Amino acid sequence: MNKDRKLIIAGNWKMNKTVAEALDLVNGLKMELATVKEVDVVVCPPFTALDGVSKAVIGTNIKLGAQTMSEYGFGAYTGEIAAGMLKEFSVRYVILGHSERRQIFGETDALVAKKALAVHAASLKPIVCVGETLAEREAGQTEAVVGTQLKGSLVGLTPEQMEETILAYEPVWAIGTGKTATTQQAQEVHAFIRARLAAQFGETVAKRVRVQYGGSVKPANARELMGQPDVDGALVGGASLEVRSFADIVKNSI
Ligand code: 13P
Repeated sequence: MNKDRKLIIAGNWKMNKTVAEALDLVNGLKMELATVKEVDVVVCPPFTALDGVSKAVIGTNIKLGAQTMSEYGFGAYTGEIAAGMLKEFSVRYVILGHSERRQIFGETDALVAKKALAVHAASLKPIVCVGETLAEREAGQTEAVVGTQLKGSLVGLTPEQMEETILAYEPVWAIGTGKTATTQQAQEVHAFIRARLAAQFGETVAKRVRVQYGGSVKPANARELMGQPDVDGALVGGASLEVRSFADIVKNSI
């Protein structure tokens, strides 16, 4: 595929997989994807499986991500996980501001921005998620909502940090519902996001930032979605939990 930006396809396992199940999954993915070079392949297991999965991917092209991270360093923050802990397991990416974290755990744009700065301070790469609900789309507020989330979640990032940030457009109504945004709907919002980045960080940075699409990505729709000019990868939930479907999403995108 002729795009300047390298595709990045990440599996967000969410709160799924025991250690044994996680190892089965990653060992299967290794058989299929260990040598893939055309696409950055990332898996984001739950914290409890990071140790095992990190050992399993040594020597392969599969990289590791976490699903969230504390904005703080070390200390009295019961239940939280710090950047320094993630780095012990060779984690390179951290998903931030997923709609489930925003909706269920009350994460705000300001908190996501703080976390993004902490992720960069640790030389990791954040995957910052944005996306509108169905009600917001139907009310014609998609751009307003996504624009506000973008602005608020990227506060304080330097252009250099922005270049090393991945964005994920995940329309909330398409997550886990089997309803994918049409390629046109996805491309429209991705182009809008890139225009906003250009306005805030400059054209050069905007051209380099990778923007993933997330929301019911499957092997059958991956090729068409990845073929859009401003879609630079996928953040995959349900279909990343099975070797066959995640491997086929990657292969169909190349
Ligand atoms: P699904 O692929 O299950 O719709 O989930 C998308 C998602 O939330 C990835 O972060």
